[in-house]
Amino acid sequence: MTAVLEVNNVTKMFGKFQALNGVKFKLNKGEVLGFIGPNGAGKSTTIRILLGMLKADFGNAKIFGKDVWTDAVDIHKRIAYVPGDVNLWPNLTGGEVIDLFLSMRGVKVNKQRKENLMKRFEFDPTKKCRAYSKGNRQKVALISAFAADADLYILDEPTSGLDPLQERVFQECVQEVKEKGASVLLSSHILSEVERLCDQVAIIRQGSIVEAGSLEDLRHLTRIQINLRTREEASKLVEQDWVHDLTYENGTYIFQLDADHMDDLIRFIQPHGVVKLESAPAKLEDLFMRHYETTEGGV
Ligand SMILES: Nc1ncnc2c1ncn2[C@@H]1O[C@H](COP(=O)(O)OP(=O)(O)O)[C@@H](O)[C@H]1O
Ligand SMILES: [Mg+2]
Repeated sequence: MTAVLEVNNVTKMFGKFQALNGVKFKLNKGEVLGFIGPNGAGKSTTIRILLGMLKADFGNAKIFGKDVWTDAVDIHKRIAYVPGDVNLWPNLTGGEVIDLFLSMRGVKVNKQRKENLMKRFEFDPTKKCRAYSKGNRQKVALISAFAADADLYILDEPTSGLDPLQERVFQECVQEVKEKGASVLLSSHILSEVERLCDQVAIIRQGSIVEAGSLEDLRHLTRIQINLRTREEASKLVEQDWVHDLTYENGTYIFQLDADHMDDLIRFIQPHGVVKLESAPAKLEDLFMRHYETTEGGV
């Protein structure tokens, strides 16, 4: 698979503060990579390095096989970037700023596509930017990004301030560019946003990648939520080391199961007479929470 974007052991210091520590991941052509981490983890710093606006202290990053620091001009012709906090010209209208952004990218604009995006995002381009809410400023950047083709979209928490319907429109836009073969780097701390869209995820925490892979790859590390009712009591469940956080409520055992021990569970409970067994796939959210626990020396 061709890597469109490659980050190799990137380290960044701000004075004595280490913002990034050996960050490493890659994004393949035609895929969406979720770049996930809590506030302050180093997502925007990584992205500013990718844009060639900050220089890595160690390591390097490549986009389309070119160095992000030395070849920024070539790279920028083929990318679209949306920041999480969009600053605009207060005295220009939204429509004027969208045209300005597009002319700065030097791309051919499809007027119909632009107008269609405005309609879908329910965006009024006639108002001066000083009057726009955060959500509307975000829309200016999103419409500018999606109104013209790019090979790579770099989106840094792009949906802050959008309501759920507009968030849906955003997700459709990502899907559409992906179908055309473009690649997308989507940073977020909103996990549900990522689960639906991403082929791969890289989880960053305190400047380090703590996990990377496909959602399928990562799910095996996690647990399954189980609700179980048996005819005979099965309290020995608590002694199994693949059972966690066991509680008993109204005749139902509620616990988490290590995902690779489902067959052990089935064998164990079968003699107790199973009345009800419900299992829910672990959410990325839970996986993420476990990272907090493990990296802080808990579990
Ligand atoms: N220019 C800077 N000078 C000093 N510290 C910075 C600078 N930019 C970012 N940081 C720090 O680096 C860390 C990572 O920030 P950032 O990359 O913005 O995180 P994220 O985008 O994941 O929320 C934070 O602790 C932030 O305060
Ligand atoms: Mg950020």
